Amino acid sequence: MQLAGGDVLHAIFTEPGVRRYLFDDFLLTRVETDGHVAAAVAHGAWAIWQDGRIVGLTSLRPMGGERELMIVLSERCWGRGVAFEAARTAMRHGFDTLRLDRILATVDLPNGRSHRLMTRLGFVPIGESDGPVSRARNYEALRRSGT
Ligand SMILES: CC(C)(COP(=O)(O)OP(=O)(O)OC[C@H]1O[C@@H](n2cnc3c(N)ncnc32)[C@H](O)[C@@H]1OP(=O)(O)O)[C@@H](O)C(=O)NCCC(=O)NCCS
Repeated sequence: MQLAGGDVLHAIFTEPGVRRYLFDDFLLTRVETDGHVAAAVAHGAWAIWQDGRIVGLTSLRPMGGERELMIVLSERCWGRGVAFEAARTAMRHGFDTLRLDRILATVDLPNGRSHRLMTRLGFVPIGESDGPVSRARNYEALRRSGT
């Protein structure tokens, strides 16, 4: 049976590797997943597809008058550049269509995979902040940063 998009995203959001940093290891209920997805869709989000299936989600969520890159990818697709391509598409939309001067990102310090992704995307560190569980590094990517 083909799962609806919400079921697929709930399965992804509750994967151990995904929830560890994205939700501070909290196991979301389906209703909470739907809330997160609805909020993302409300301001514009892209489903990430591979081989005809949804494998993740990316968005540019509003953050104090600016936009912050959010990306989540199923663990089974990690390490192949899939998130990189999806994030690059979202950033192009941000710079070319939304005419943003910069895009922000926040990554928990222990989330090495995500730090590597931000660096590949052209983000540069601009500081650190305290999160609910661990400290986070704050990044910015400027319009003419090559993305
Ligand atoms: C953060 C996250 C999206 C990164 O996924 P990812 O698969 O590591 O990222 P990429 O798509 O850039 O893939 C990178 C890897 O693919 C490799 N790769 C292969 N082909 C590639 C290509 N054409 N382009 C870029 N990288 C490629 C890279 O060398 C890299 O390898 P490495 O893992 O050994 O360093 C994923 O870990 C995730 O969803 N985490 C949980 C949610 C989260 O923490 N989100 C971040 C906070 S917003």
